[in-house]
Amino acid sequence: MPTATLIDGKARAAALTHSISKETAALHADKGIVPGLAVVIVGEDPASQVYVRNKQRTAEKCGFYSVQHALAADTSQDKVLRLIDELNANPAVHGILVQLPLPQHLDEQLVTQAILPQKDVDGFHFINIGKLTAGDTERAFVPCTPAGCMLLIEDQIGKDLSGLDAVVVGRSNIVGKPMASLLLAANATVTICHSRTKDLAEVTRRADILIAAVGRANMIRGDWVKPGAVVIDVGINRVPVENGGEKRSKLTGDVAFAEASEVASAITPVPGGVGPMTIALLMANTLKAARA
Ligand code: GUN
Repeated sequence: MPTATLIDGKARAAALTHSISKETAALHADKGIVPGLAVVIVGEDPASQVYVRNKQRTAEKCGFYSVQHALAADTSQDKVLRLIDELNANPAVHGILVQLPLPQHLDEQLVTQAILPQKDVDGFHFINIGKLTAGDTERAFVPCTPAGCMLLIEDQIGKDLSGLDAVVVGRSNIVGKPMASLLLAANATVTICHSRTKDLAEVTRRADILIAAVGRANMIRGDWVKPGAVVIDVGINRVPVENGGEKRSKLTGDVAFAEASEVASAITPVPGGVGPMTIALLMANTLKAARA
């Protein structure tokens, strides 16, 4: 019997984008400013194409100026950097996002660092990473996925996480590391663990707040979860399923959802949990960039 509260990220994200669209209309009425978001995608990765389409659709729903630059997979580094320079100089564009991963021949670090920090709505520029790490969560552009996770955690527990143990599984620059910085800024006691951690389950069992961002379907089992924990599942894994002889695939998180639901106090589903929040926070960051 599942006892956990199901955290409805889809509804939370819809409420957030609704309020962003109202604030956008007010910004336009008061200052004549329309937030502008430029999304750059290089190559034809199908998952990236879906993400980029969703980002553009949501931007339009918020009333933003939205432009997409789809470049061929073999586009040179120089050409990508020239496009970023143009977008940096374009006053109608307040936020720039380069969808990752990039094709092998492109230097991800060089490309993300070319975006002006004040237009870096992904929060990947070293200036923004530095601000976040220094605890300046107000002025930093915070990466969208961990920022969305924090809102979901706040809804369950509140803004102050003093005395609580938070465990982040995964140490990526996009999720794990900024997630840890945010939890620390909210006074949680934070542990980051990863594939080289000895006895992962022993660590996760101590978590009042457990964030799974490893990219391995169903890796976190029910008995890895502390009773009453808030569980945030960042994983988006496509796993094959057979339905009446028909081969299909479905999205699955990093957490064995049914098992964990019997132990946790609240848990995000996949899909419909963290995913929609990521896009909503991108809109929030773009509005913030336009206001600045
Ligand atoms: N690829 C997966 N997640 C992200 C993200 O948050 N931003 C960008 N730019 N690319 C991604």
